[in-house]
Formats: sequence, C-alpha cells, structure tokens
Amino acid sequence: MRKKIVAGNWKMNTDDEEGLSLFSEIVNMVRDEKKGDQIAIICAPFTHLKSLVQLGSETVKIGAQNCHQKESGAYTGEISAKMIRSIGCEYVIIGHSERRQYFAESDELLAEKTKIALANGLTPLFCIGETLDERNNGNFFEILRAQLDNGIFGLDTEDFSKVIIAYEPVWAIGTGLTATAEQAQEVHEFIRAEVSGKYGEDVAEETSILYGGSCNPKNAAELFAQKDIDGGLIGGASLKSRDFTDIVKTFN
Ligand code: G3P
Repeated sequence: MRKKIVAGNWKMNTDDEEGLSLFSEIVNMVRDEKKGDQIAIICAPFTHLKSLVQLGSETVKIGAQNCHQKESGAYTGEISAKMIRSIGCEYVIIGHSERRQYFAESDELLAEKTKIALANGLTPLFCIGETLDERNNGNFFEILRAQLDNGIFGLDTEDFSKVIIAYEPVWAIGTGLTATAEQAQEVHEFIRAEVSGKYGEDVAEETSILYGGSCNPKNAAELFAQKDIDGGLIGGASLKSRDFTDIVKTFN
C-alpha cells in the first residue's frame, strides 16, 4: 500500500520563535487527527531543522527544502545532504520550481542532488511541474516526461523506490489558482504510467505522487479522492496549524 503523505513546505518563512511555536501547534493538532498509516512532514528552513528534530515527534517528520549536490567542500553558504541527515532530518525537497526558476537548477543538477540525498539516507521529495505557457501550449506532458527522464529515471529500481514525486503545476503555486481534481488526476495518472513504463507496474503502484499548488482545506478532499493522488505538498496552508491539520484530516 503506497504511503499517504501531507508535507508542508514553509519556504523562507518564520523566524526561530515563530517556527518553534508553529511546529508545536502542528504536532499537538496533528497528533489527534493523523491515522496510523499516514505520514505528515514539515520541510522547514535550515535554521529550524535541528530544533524541530529535537522537539521530537513520531507524529510529524522533518525535511529540508534543498541540499547541495556534493558531499562537502569549498561551497560557501551551502548545506550538504550529509549535514542534513546528521541532525536527524529524514526528508529533503529537491527540484522545487522556485529553485528551478530562481537558482537555474537543471534536471541534470537535480539528478545529482537526488543521488547524493539517497546516498546519505534522505528521502527525496522530487518536484516536477509545467509553467502556464507550457500548459497553454499543450506540450506539458513532454515537459513533465523530460523532467522525470533527466531527473530521476536514471536511478536504479531500489533507489527510485525510495523517491516521493510531487507534481506542482507552477501556475498553481501561491496563486490561489488550484488545478482542478480532473487536471491533477490526469497528470498523476500520466506520471504513474511513465513510472510503470520505466520500472514496472509494481513499483509504479507503490510510488507516492503528491499534488502541490494552492492545496487547502476546501479543495484537499476532492484532490485526495483521486485514484492517483497520494497526498499533498502544501505551501501557504502549512503556515497555519489549523489549515495544515485539516488537510491531514482529509485522509480520514
Ligand atoms: O511546495 C509547495 C508549494 O510550492 C505550494 O505552495 O502556497 O500554492 O500551497 P502553495
């Protein structure tokens, strides 16, 4: 049975006090709502990670939002996968569209980041998604196929099986314009078919594919009811403990 996951991406938000307070609220609220087989994750800024891990919780797991592609070295300002894992963090977002856009992260670079994250025991949340132009041009399936092929389809089956995929249509991120359940299901079904073609049906059936892009308590139920949507990667709504918890509740 593939995992049902609700992961929050706080992006560059919350100072130390705000982050610890928000995380404590989320843990206390999610504890009462999360069903045993569900996974809740908070991907926080680097400055929070050790504290959130130490706050300790089987209820809510901790992830980073990025890692460098090298093991260590003269890369001023960067954080390695080994460092992230060494403080007890278990997940890392790789390839978020904001990093692809603002930091020119190519599929090839993201393939390296995914490999080193796996090599250091982190579970990657690998993001793909098309821009509004690409959707309007109608060639978005080709774009998504290339992101998969060049990003994670170079992994062997064992490593690929550890990857969580997040489909985040760029035009829905932070815009309040959510993909319809039908639009999201169409793409998730395509992604699962691509995985099946590459790694076989069994692996495809076990791969968790999350939706991200203006997911909130009002639309989560319809989205998560779709056959190939296994949860969400939540931005704005993860900064509100009630909203994040209500999205977790949606799987009940
Ligand atoms: O990684 C999740 C994020 O990109 C979605 O943001 O605010 O549209 O939920 P938001």
